Amino acid sequence: MGIVTGFFDFILSYLPGVILLVFVSGLILLYVSDRHQVDHTIRRNYPVVGRLRYKFEEMGVFFRQYFFAQDREEMPFNRADRTWVYQAAKQESTLQAFGSTRLQHEGDVLFANSVFPYTGNEEPQQQVFGPYCPNPYSTDKIFHISGMSFGAISKPAVKALVAGAREAGVWINTGEGGASTEHLQGGADVVYQIGTAKYGVRNADGSLSDEKLKIVADNNNVKMFEIKLSQGAKPGKGGILPADKVTAEIAAQRGIPEGKASISPPTHQEIQCFDDLYSFIRHVRLVTEKPVGIKLCVGNIGEFREMLTTLINRASAASADISESDAKQKAFDDVIKAFAPDFITLDGGNGGTGAAPMSLIDAAGMNLQESLPLVSNLLTELNLKDRIKLVASGKLITPVDVAWALCAGADAVTTARGFMFSLGCIQALQCHKNSCPTGITTHDKRLQAGLDPINKSVRVAAYANEMHKELETIAKSCGVSSPAKLSRKNALIYTSNQHAKPMQEVYK
Ligand SMILES: Cc1cc2nc3c(=O)[nH]c(=O)nc-3n(C[C@H](O)[C@H](O)[C@H](O)COP(=O)(O)O)c2cc1C
Repeated sequence: MGIVTGFFDFILSYLPGVILLVFVSGLILLYVSDRHQVDHTIRRNYPVVGRLRYKFEEMGVFFRQYFFAQDREEMPFNRADRTWVYQAAKQESTLQAFGSTRLQHEGDVLFANSVFPYTGNEEPQQQVFGPYCPNPYSTDKIFHISGMSFGAISKPAVKALVAGAREAGVWINTGEGGASTEHLQGGADVVYQIGTAKYGVRNADGSLSDEKLKIVADNNNVKMFEIKLSQGAKPGKGGILPADKVTAEIAAQRGIPEGKASISPPTHQEIQCFDDLYSFIRHVRLVTEKPVGIKLCVGNIGEFREMLTTLINRASAASADISESDAKQKAFDDVIKAFAPDFITLDGGNGGTGAAPMSLIDAAGMNLQESLPLVSNLLTELNLKDRIKLVASGKLITPVDVAWALCAGADAVTTARGFMFSLGCIQALQCHKNSCPTGITTHDKRLQAGLDPINKSVRVAAYANEMHKELETIAKSCGVSSPAKLSRKNALIYTSNQHAKPMQEVYK
């Protein structure tokens, strides 16, 4: 007993000295290492303490988000908007108290409420995509899940999104990585995206495989196809999946080597001009017998006009030699039916991505606030608005954003990041690093374990449902029976902090 007590006394009397010695030796080692390394100037000039800078820089993101940033300040999404999505997803009350904290900026929308709000309950309107193809797609929903590839997002995230989409009756776009088993067997309506690398439907040389495309099209859950020309966050650049996210499963699905970055080409090898584009659209529709759309971000509205007039010119050329007016019109219409895309997904330059160069994310492509009114005007001017549905995406995550887009001319809206928030995304901005703390954009099993697909699928559906409910509230306040009937008459746009003008005047 005495020996044991003596041993502990001995240890305790020397322990503080030993700890101090280890600590001081550690500091000396760090000091020497900092002084002698040449990579970091701050550490060389301020040994040991200079290291704190890196830690603070890393932690600053979180401090700003939780303690310092105001509700309407954060980027890309402010806390007020994210909170609305979180509450909707968790089926908590989205009601607000006391008054608005939203400052009015130039370009912001204000809905034109009516003296006579609509009080009836109209059946939701059906929208038909691809009315001239053998299998048109009909939906009464307006708000859907935008493309995010399996690869950019994790398997549990895909599972939750697919199950949530099925529950809410909205579509989910596969993104350019091809369709996973979860997409194909989950029972939700799927829009299959054909990216420039044709993942999932490619031949060895990267061209489109009609056989593989037909197999995908034969799946009843796949309702439409979307040919991706560009994406708002990185127009002019193909998809980027960093090497550490290319797992064996993802590599197999895409038909590429495991552990090597997956970089898609900037364009489709089949599409070198607008005529090629229309031929490709027609070809995909003939093979799939389903509606086919295109996704792009507009940079140059003149080029977009040229894209549409190429179609009109093709139709005019086909009907030029016909003199009888009905037959002439029919020949013209037949070309439009055969070659026009069934929908255009217009992505905003302010859109999201799993990974992109900062210069493109920050400064390439028109924001939706600019492009949507222009594109809608052009479709109307060229008499294509009824033929081609307009789907808008790009930071449209709250009912105000979505209703603005509907008023401006969109027929439907999709969001990627809105649904990521519904899955629990905290905007940690780690999507490109395989270290997403919420398991959404990582293939690290430890981090994925926190994301329960069943629990989160309920949130995905709840977000979509609450969105549709509140869109209806806005529509009714404007005296309109359903969100699909919102138009420019129902909104004003702030042209300066003091003045709001009718949307029709601002967007004419
Ligand atoms: C993680 C992530 C992955 C994405 N992957 C794709 C993709 O594969 N194909 C595509 O066309 N767009 C992709 N996008 C862009 C979105 O589909 C969408 O166009 C864009 O984020 C704008 O919508 P949002 O602002 O609502 O997120 C991705 C976006 C994110 C955040």
